[in-house]
Amino acid sequence: MRAAELFDVSGEIALVTGGGTGIGFKIARVLAVNGARVVLAGEDQGTLEAAVASLCELGGHAIAIPIDVRRDDMIAPSFDRIEKELGPVSLLVNNAGIAHRDKAVKLARETLRDVMAVNVEGAAMMAQEAARRMIRDGRGGSIINVSSVLSELPMRQVAAYSASKAAISQMTRCFALEWAKHKIRVNEIRPGWFETSLTDPFLKGAGAGVMANQNPTGRLGDSHDLDGAILLLASRASVYMTGSAITVDGGHSIGR
Ligand SMILES: NC(=O)c1ccc[n+]([C@@H]2O[C@H](COP(=O)([O-])OP(=O)(O)OC[C@H]3O[C@@H](n4cnc5c(N)ncnc54)[C@H](O)[C@@H]3O)[C@@H](O)[C@H]2O)c1
Repeated sequence: MRAAELFDVSGEIALVTGGGTGIGFKIARVLAVNGARVVLAGEDQGTLEAAVASLCELGGHAIAIPIDVRRDDMIAPSFDRIEKELGPVSLLVNNAGIAHRDKAVKLARETLRDVMAVNVEGAAMMAQEAARRMIRDGRGGSIINVSSVLSELPMRQVAAYSASKAAISQMTRCFALEWAKHKIRVNEIRPGWFETSLTDPFLKGAGAGVMANQNPTGRLGDSHDLDGAILLLASRASVYMTGSAITVDGGHSIGR
């Protein structure tokens, strides 16, 4: 099959949580410039609108929908609205996430709960809603969960975050197992280190100048480094992949 056909995402209706910033925006961008209709979901309407405007300038088709993934009362109505405006979601990217930095002896129960509420519960409820509708219509679909190299690698002072990402990895495989018979593929992307508002406090603080040298390529992830993995998992090119994890980390997880 030719690459243009194999990696075609032009028929997709893609919902990207946390799509207004950082990695989520980069994911939304590669989908939009390749013809998918993209829904950017997140908490801040102004940020989402600005991101939509950038995608439209690039010739993409995008809309913004405010969703707090912790709120059940926002999830189903948002999918209803997308169905009305664009059609049913065929690709969900669970990208919304929060982090923290706490010594293990100081990690507050509240921090642990907050991180789990967004990173794990939010992703689970979004995946469940997307899958229910894919099953309802018998049309299948693709779900991509954004975890992290920290789902396997331990790191000091990010126990809650790392545990949440490990949970996402296992959740990916469990959902993949249950939903394969409905032609729903559930896969995971494990990014290494990228400069975003999530990592800025660390990369511009204690981790400044350090993390880029922690992998054999000697640099942090850049703006287009996730494009290939996203196009693969979003398209028929990965039709026989489910429950898989793709690591995109410049080799960080294999060492320097
Ligand atoms: N930056 C990195 O190096 C790196 C590495 C591995 C994994 N990740 C993962 O990538 C994803 C995106 O992070 P990022 O680095 O782009 O940071 P970011 O802060 O730019 O993005 C996080 C996004 O999640 C959204 N969000 C947070 N809470 C939400 C909620 N309750 N409901 C809806 N949206 C919510 C934010 O509005 C924001 O748009 C996260 O899941 C993060 O764990 C990032």
